[in-house]
Amino acid sequence: MQLLAINGSPRGKKSNSRIILKSITSGAESVENWRTDTIYLNQVSSYEERIASITIADVILLIFPLYTDSMPGIVMKFIEVLQNNRECIAQKKIGFIIQSGFPERHHSVFIQKYFIKLAQKLDCCYIGSAILGGIEGIQNSSKEEFEEYDILFTEIGRMIVSEGKIEEEMFDSIKGPYKFPRWVAFLFKYIMKLKKGQSFWDNQLKTNNAYEQRFERPYE
Ligand SMILES: Cc1cc2nc3c(=O)[nH]c(=O)nc-3n(C[C@H](O)[C@H](O)[C@H](O)COP(=O)(O)O)c2cc1C
Repeated sequence: MQLLAINGSPRGKKSNSRIILKSITSGAESVENWRTDTIYLNQVSSYEERIASITIADVILLIFPLYTDSMPGIVMKFIEVLQNNRECIAQKKIGFIIQSGFPERHHSVFIQKYFIKLAQKLDCCYIGSAILGGIEGIQNSSKEEFEEYDILFTEIGRMIVSEGKIEEEMFDSIKGPYKFPRWVAFLFKYIMKLKKGQSFWDNQLKTNNAYEQRFERPYE
């Protein structure tokens, strides 16, 4: 039996999605008779190769990050390929994990609804989906936090193949709040006006030699 993990992050092997999938696939492989394969959508690969991997899979798990409140373009492109090759995916079990930088999960709810519909349209057996907020920090976790993530995702991988379902409760300890109370939003607005509140973005701009151009409006 085969679990096909599909990594839809443009960061590919350097992605948070990969960290999550590494533990999930190791959990899946710990179940007797199960093997896994992973596809990176950011890698150049022929459609035939991807279709072949899907054809031999029993369960498909697509994980991708939220990019500007939507899915990355490489995921959209992949879906278009699936829509033109429905016979390879029809009747397969399919599940999704949508992970994002912002902690609130409600940012990803609309995209989750789209994927539930997509599974129906592709005539797949939808096994569930999960939204995980606040995942950007996973790369910088302490050793202890990292171990906690690893134990959790490994167990989830085991459950996905042995029970054939993905339930949001499995992720309860890390999935993040659905929505912050209003006072938190006000607090954030205030913090973001402070220099310290901007330090993460300022550092990103400086690292990329773009700090001095941060107010430029090239399209005007
Ligand atoms: C171009 C870009 C756009 C992003 N847009 C959003 C967004 O709209 N909402 C959000 O919560 N996080 C957003 N993020 C953060 C990512 O979802 C988050 O860092 C995620 O964990 C990245 O996963 P990856 O390393 O697997 O690609 C964005 C990140 C990038 C680079």
